[in-house]
Amino acid sequence: MKRTIETNLTEEDIKIEGSLRPQKLDDYIGQEKAKQNLKVYIEAAKRRHDTLDHVLFYGPPGLGKTTLACIIANEMGVHIKTTSGPAIEKPGEIAAILNGLSEGDVLFIDEIHRLNRQVEEVLYPAMEDYAIDIMVGKGPTARSIRLDLPRFTLVGATTRAGLLTAPLRDRFGVIHRLEFYNADELSTIITHSARILNVSIESSGAYELARRSRGTPRLANRLLKRVRDFAQVRHDGVITEDVAVEALDLMGVDPVGLDASDRNMLLTMIHKFSGGPVGLDTIAAAIGEDAGTISDVIEPYLLQIGFINRTPQGRVASELCYRHFGIDDMTKDASK
Ligand SMILES: Nc1ncnc2c1ncn2[C@@H]1O[C@H](COP(=O)(O)OP(=O)(O)OP(=O)(O)O)[C@@H](O)[C@H]1O
Ligand SMILES: [Mg+2]
Repeated sequence: MKRTIETNLTEEDIKIEGSLRPQKLDDYIGQEKAKQNLKVYIEAAKRRHDTLDHVLFYGPPGLGKTTLACIIANEMGVHIKTTSGPAIEKPGEIAAILNGLSEGDVLFIDEIHRLNRQVEEVLYPAMEDYAIDIMVGKGPTARSIRLDLPRFTLVGATTRAGLLTAPLRDRFGVIHRLEFYNADELSTIITHSARILNVSIESSGAYELARRSRGTPRLANRLLKRVRDFAQVRHDGVITEDVAVEALDLMGVDPVGLDASDRNMLLTMIHKFSGGPVGLDTIAAAIGEDAGTISDVIEPYLLQIGFINRTPQGRVASELCYRHFGIDDMTKDASK
């Protein structure tokens, strides 16, 4: 099923994301901690005429990892070469990519947790000493020679930092976890995107959209586009609070940004498992969803808004969650 609130990149996003992506650190909204740190590192590297340390970003999809990688290259005034973990199959391929970089360039590897082991091993000396070891010859005369590389900055992005091997993680000088955005930040992003897309939106309309965008800029931009269409067809084109509420309700996105999949998962936890604790795989089987999708895409936001809690025994639906659905938490009542 295709979700309205899918936070992964979809075909639809590609057309608009390019134009909405901020190019400079100062235009990048939110993620203050990461932004302030990066600002200092970039400034320092530029003053020393040095390359920036390797940077790793992790966090749920659509929070701005790729955007930050592009901004880093932009601010450093260097080129960016983009690839992804699953796209590099052999050690020779990564060696060729590294060898093709120019001094100071950014190499961006998306989904870096999906690099295979042999490819990863080429990266270790590359990141540490700006060199790669390549084997020449075959059989008993085979020997390895060291090839110097230009100094470069590796920017890695992953939705699953836990899957990164320790030796790879340790070679990043800067590691940042991207956080969900609050409604004020999202509303600023939405207002800004509306200006670029030439959409009229009232501030209360932007705020309503922000509240229902799961803390995710990619989703905020996509919902903005959908609500704009709705405003044009059903109303006079202006996104007011009422128009936003009507359109989002119709799309099945509720006031806190939950859609049918979230509701299904939460209500299954409440009704079938008395609110938990219930293990990830058990929930996955009960709702027919992939466990990885639940833990990477669905769950982070539900944890963030406090609708579920993680315990050693499994996931538990919180009191807040029960209240959202207007259901009495029987387990809590009984213990009173
Ligand atoms: N801080 C921000 N300010 C303004 N717009 C942003 C910000 N972060 C992200 N966006 C918008 O959200 C879109 C998605 O961001 P981006 O592609 O960088 O996410 P991502 O973290 O790389 O996602 P994925 O994990 O799927 O690769 C961007 O095109 C941009 O328009
Ligand atoms: Mg990305």
